[in-house]
Amino acid sequence: RRTLATAITGVTTAALAMTALNAQAATEVTLGHTLSDSSHYSVGADAFKETLERLSDGEFIVNEHPSGSLGGERAMIEGLQIGTVDVVITSTGPLGNFVPETYVLDLPFLFEDYGQARCVLDGEVGQDLLAKMGEHELVGLAWSENGFRHLTNSQREVNSPEDAKGLKVRTMENQVHQEAFRQLGASPTPMAFPELFTALQQGTVDGQENPITVIVATNFWEVQDHLSLTGHVYSPAAVLGSPILLDGLSEEQREWFNEAARASAEATREEVSRLEEEGIELLREKGMTVKTDVDTAPFQQAVEPAYEIYTEQYGSEMLDRIRASS
Ligand code: PAF
Repeated sequence: RRTLATAITGVTTAALAMTALNAQAATEVTLGHTLSDSSHYSVGADAFKETLERLSDGEFIVNEHPSGSLGGERAMIEGLQIGTVDVVITSTGPLGNFVPETYVLDLPFLFEDYGQARCVLDGEVGQDLLAKMGEHELVGLAWSENGFRHLTNSQREVNSPEDAKGLKVRTMENQVHQEAFRQLGASPTPMAFPELFTALQQGTVDGQENPITVIVATNFWEVQDHLSLTGHVYSPAAVLGSPILLDGLSEEQREWFNEAARASAEATREEVSRLEEEGIELLREKGMTVKTDVDTAPFQQAVEPAYEIYTEQYGSEMLDRIRASS
């Protein structure tokens, strides 16, 4: 006869076996990005994790790796291609080196405001660009957001292109951005983001350009005195997946990843909008001079040749489509 004790032991053993089975079945997903765990990318990473784990009922477990702990964005994109990373939230900075079609999004002054940029990325052009990633050993899951980029530096207030002349400015590893800064008369220095803080601290470069969200999340006020709201380029972010993981999934599982990426993008965009408003005040409190009413027309005029150089190399089809759709 079974005693109560043996019955309980039996139930416990069965429960343990089930837990072990579930634990065995769970696939760990490595998600990387370069910003701190208080950043808009981390808000997006948390939303990705919450959504995927909920939809898959624990079949997938997401491990977040913020702060460039898996390397810079270029290195992480390479990681997706060889399967050492599963999901990455990245700006388009280094992406053009892998998917040249995305360079169009890096053209200066292409978008006027957040509404226009988000609409193009969520529309046909954006979706076609995500699909293009598939031709380059990447899976484009969703367009997320970094934000409009502004110039900071340690030397002087920048009110006009004249003031930017001669400044050594770190740019992303992106030829369109480098060309734009060359046209401004600055000295562009491409560099991976994880090296940037030290480079600013040691004076290897005078300045950098990034959205308010990044300037806040990275404490750049400690090493940069001046911020000019040049808004010279909208910086999208992409949620990318590794084909090595995603190609082996069922349609249902793939859809969980798509939905998690969409939730991630939505949460990130909300955080960008919030910080755009609150961040400037915070940066002033931290001692930065913030020039808000920059006349951007002369900047736009100065970087115009970047368009010609871009179209000579990549044609004008994507650019025309963006202009027609926005
Ligand atoms: O400047 C960059 O490299 C990017 O804007 C950053 C900060 C890594 C976010 O994608």
